Amino acid sequence: MTNTASIAKGLEGVLFTESKLTFINGTEGILTHLGIPIQEWAENSTFEELSLALLNGQLPTAAELAQFDADLKANRAIPEALTEIIKGMPRGVHPMQALRTAVSYLGLLDPQAEDTSAEARRAIATRMIAQFSTIIAAINRAQEGQDIIAPRMDLTHAGNYLYMLSGKEPTAEQARLFDIALVLHVDHGMNASTFTAIATGSTLSDMYSCITSAIGALKGPLHGGANEAVMDMLDEVGTPDQAEGYITKKLDNKEKIMGVGHRVYKYFDPRSRVLRDYAEVVASKEGKSNYYQILETIEKVVVDRIGSKGIYPNVDFYSGTVYSDLGIKKEYFTPIFALARISGWCASLIEYTGNNRLLRPDAVYTGATDAHYVQLQDRQ
Ligand code: ACO
Repeated sequence: MTNTASIAKGLEGVLFTESKLTFINGTEGILTHLGIPIQEWAENSTFEELSLALLNGQLPTAAELAQFDADLKANRAIPEALTEIIKGMPRGVHPMQALRTAVSYLGLLDPQAEDTSAEARRAIATRMIAQFSTIIAAINRAQEGQDIIAPRMDLTHAGNYLYMLSGKEPTAEQARLFDIALVLHVDHGMNASTFTAIATGSTLSDMYSCITSAIGALKGPLHGGANEAVMDMLDEVGTPDQAEGYITKKLDNKEKIMGVGHRVYKYFDPRSRVLRDYAEVVASKEGKSNYYQILETIEKVVVDRIGSKGIYPNVDFYSGTVYSDLGIKKEYFTPIFALARISGWCASLIEYTGNNRLLRPDAVYTGATDAHYVQLQDRQ
């Protein structure tokens, strides 16, 4: 009989590959990309630059970045056939369902889709990074019965997304705030969705299949879906004076609090610290917003009550208040996560499949032994 003690439940701590992209020290709350701390990326860089840096495995030169930026802009528009599919989607579906379907359909329209060479994977990655924002904005507009707004080529990736939501050019401050939020979400090591993309890619399946699988994994409330769940919680709490009682009751009932806890971080997720600072700035604009005050109280109660178990706010805890301020609806928080994480998925996939081995873990068999087939009529 195999020893069940050797099972790594949830694959916790299992090392299955090497990567040069992202490092996390969960005990000290450290996150780096290419060795550079996330705080430095957030302060100095852009979504475009971090995406290219991860795809290339090094900081780009100015010329490389300008070329990548031009490539992204040139690929922003999505095929008309996809726009029609998005317009025809049933109203009221979750935008992550819509995104999963749209990306899968995009693969049908791409003549290069089935090419799994490194060059093709890279070209498809650039197109998908460019087109995710157009697709998500189109889903948002179509689901609200509004006309779809074509992308503009003179705006940054972040600024153009906000523009496509309303047709109004965002201020430089809004575009930069959104850009920072994207930077914070671009990559995070072997999280569930990246691992899913790699698992699919390890079979030598095509990029669209890999990314469609990853979207499905990101959608769940234990992963990317938590940011929307946090906003649901804030709406349920209602007012700051209710926050302490609400969260105490949840903890007493051993219910999970959304936006806190992490498989790897046993201390503050550094991305949550950066986002908290911006959430505070946003909230202080016209007196502190209810949301921020509620979050402050929840953070305090959680850290006091279960911080000793290594449960602290994660990236999803404060992001929603920042997105809300930018006019983004809560159903779109997880698609926005995907809008950023597409770069990390592609970079990790390309890195892994460059030195590929089929992923195929195993389970300890605990079922019946020495059984024999029983004819239907002889069964009780
Ligand atoms: N609220 C209350 N208690 C928690 C929470 C939480 N959010 N998370 C973990 N715990 C407790 C568990 O109840 C458990 O306690 P016990 O040992 O007394 O039974 C212990 O901590 C370990 O919990 P697990 O669920 O086994 O830890 P795991 O590493 O599997 O979970 C996860 C990580 C799924 C992220 C979890 O913390 C969680 O569900 N958080 C809420 C959802 C969330 O915010 N997800 C986003 C994560 S970040 C991201 O993916 C972008």
